[in-house]
Amino acid sequence: PVPGPVLGIESSCDETAAAVLAPDGAILAETVFSQTEDHARFGGVVPELAARAHLARLPDLVAEVLGRARVAPGDLGGVAATSGPGLIGGLIVGAGYGKGLAMAHRLPFVAVNHLEAHALTPRLPGLLPEGARFPYLLLLLSGGHCQCVAVEGLGRYRRLGTTLDDAVGEAFDKAAKLLGLPWPGGPHLERLAGEGDPSRVPLPRPLMGRAGCDFSFSGLKTAVAQAVAKGGDRADIAAAFQASVAAVVADRARNALLMAPGATALVVSGGVAANTGVRTALAWVAETAGLPLVAPPIRLCTDNAVMVAWAGIERLRGGLTDPWDHAPRPRWPL
Ligand code: KG4
Ligand code: ZN
Repeated sequence: PVPGPVLGIESSCDETAAAVLAPDGAILAETVFSQTEDHARFGGVVPELAARAHLARLPDLVAEVLGRARVAPGDLGGVAATSGPGLIGGLIVGAGYGKGLAMAHRLPFVAVNHLEAHALTPRLPGLLPEGARFPYLLLLLSGGHCQCVAVEGLGRYRRLGTTLDDAVGEAFDKAAKLLGLPWPGGPHLERLAGEGDPSRVPLPRPLMGRAGCDFSFSGLKTAVAQAVAKGGDRADIAAAFQASVAAVVADRARNALLMAPGATALVVSGGVAANTGVRTALAWVAETAGLPLVAPPIRLCTDNAVMVAWAGIERLRGGLTDPWDHAPRPRWPL
């Protein structure tokens, strides 16, 4: 049993986040500070700026969630901080802060793998009526990650497929940029797609129909660039792009389910899970397979600290802790 509330810290990319969860997983307090505005004028995340912003923000965010949760640091049952994979500067700030707090108050520390935190999110109690029991199939669709993972148990993850080039969110962002939309472009592209007709622009559907569940988006991006250069209607191009991605993701998910027999649910997470076209396509795949589609609320799909605290609780329950001198890892496959 976990002896007290768990503090979670996330700082692997451009979200600075902190959360406090009760030992049973109930969310006592959570907060996310998104640095999007700091990076927007550069058209992407600037690692050094991100690290500095984490450093400036994190102490206040941690104090804020502990205050709202009415938990003194010494009463925590543990501290869980994302320790990789991600941008090393941010990881050093967040994990360093977490380790310092744990050391000062003699608390157990959990070095959380960010991907594991995404993978375990659907098991948060009370949030998702369907819940998700092991094993389930996870589609992690974000700006930095794009993979199909069979989640078989705590610490038991089988990566079935990944992207050969860009992550799916990255593809959305690059296509959006070609269409003259601001960064991060995913939501803007979705809005524009709503005004277009996907059938007016033929775009490729990379790897569709092939075996396995890898992804590839660079050819699609090139095709978008060509369609723009030819003066195609921007809304039609956006609609065709989104339709192509949705079709490819659905095709890959179908294959991944074949590679994960016994899965009790199809879980989709990451920022791209917000996309209605992608979600609708996946809902159809799940229904055809007779499985529930579990999509955590968007705030828990994108980077957050609730998932980090929850991964910490799962690991603490399993007796898995890490030393106070655990080194952050910019690369850390599941
Ligand atoms: O998970 P996330 O917040 O951050 C990481 O990348 O870790 O995902 C952000 C990505 C961005 O590429 C963004 O453009 C994309 O998710 N995204 C969307 C939508 N909302 C966010 N892509 C397509 N449609 C959306 N509605
Ligand atoms: Zn993430």
